[in-house]
Amino acid sequence: MNYENLLISIEENIAVVTINRPTKLNALNKETISDLSKALKVLGKNNDVRVIIITGIGEKAFVAGADISEFANYTIIEGAQLAAEGQESLFDYIENLKKPVIAAVNGFALGGGLELAMACHFRIASDNAKMGLPEVSLGLIPGYGGTQRLPQLVGKGRAMEMIMTAGMITAEEAIQYGLVNHVVSQTELLSFTKTIAQKIIKNAPFAIGKAIKAINANFADGKNGFDTEIKSFGKCFGTQDFKEGTTAFLEKRKAEFTGK
Ligand code: COA
Repeated sequence: MNYENLLISIEENIAVVTINRPTKLNALNKETISDLSKALKVLGKNNDVRVIIITGIGEKAFVAGADISEFANYTIIEGAQLAAEGQESLFDYIENLKKPVIAAVNGFALGGGLELAMACHFRIASDNAKMGLPEVSLGLIPGYGGTQRLPQLVGKGRAMEMIMTAGMITAEEAIQYGLVNHVVSQTELLSFTKTIAQKIIKNAPFAIGKAIKAINANFADGKNGFDTEIKSFGKCFGTQDFKEGTTAFLEKRKAEFTGK
């Protein structure tokens, strides 16, 4: 896999996708969005990959937003298209992927960058990270799901304040808000995130996919999360991993999951 603006490594069932546009603070131009979308589709189908980590190159930025230079002259229709295509091809795709996707937020996560982190299943930040949705300072609103996912994660009042002030919060504030799960030093960020990924990998992949689906159903229009949970719970009983997990427990040994 070769992508202009991404570096990808796969080791011990963990794929690390690093956004690599350092001179533009990893801003998401069209090409990077398209590369990310293609790469995640490939990694999603790769059975050797059990967890995906998304991070940014360097020590300054995770992603400093959508690339402002690309949409500065857009019309109403082009603006709506940009948001619709991005949401469908990348942001919603990540949220609904059956494989866990963790954002390792290594610096500025602004606008589309924070929206990318919020589309991931959860977030871990370095202590220098700063997060915000500054779109109203550009005369815009968040367009990659930020108005929906930020209130889900931090509550309506905090989301209103963050979006209306266009301000940034620190990693420490983000942890208090529940926007990130852990804050560690920049040097520890990737190794700490991999340690969490390794804990996930010990568990049954099919069941993890179903858990993601059931949790997401709570936040999706027209879906009943409890119904999704019941159906997903039932489907787990048809897997070899369920037999293996329960048998291993009863035999007092470690389960060996195959994803079947
Ligand atoms: N889109 C396009 N280019 C961006 C960008 C973005 N969202 N964010 C940063 N860049 C570019 C800058 O234009 C600059 O490029 P140049 O060297 O060719 O002029 C380069 O990245 C470095 O950024 P710079 O602003 O010089 O760094 P800084 O340390 O002074 O400030 C930020 C860092 C993150 C505070 C500042 O870059 C910023 O506010 N970025 C935009 C954030 C934003 O509004 N995002 C939401 C977009 S919807």
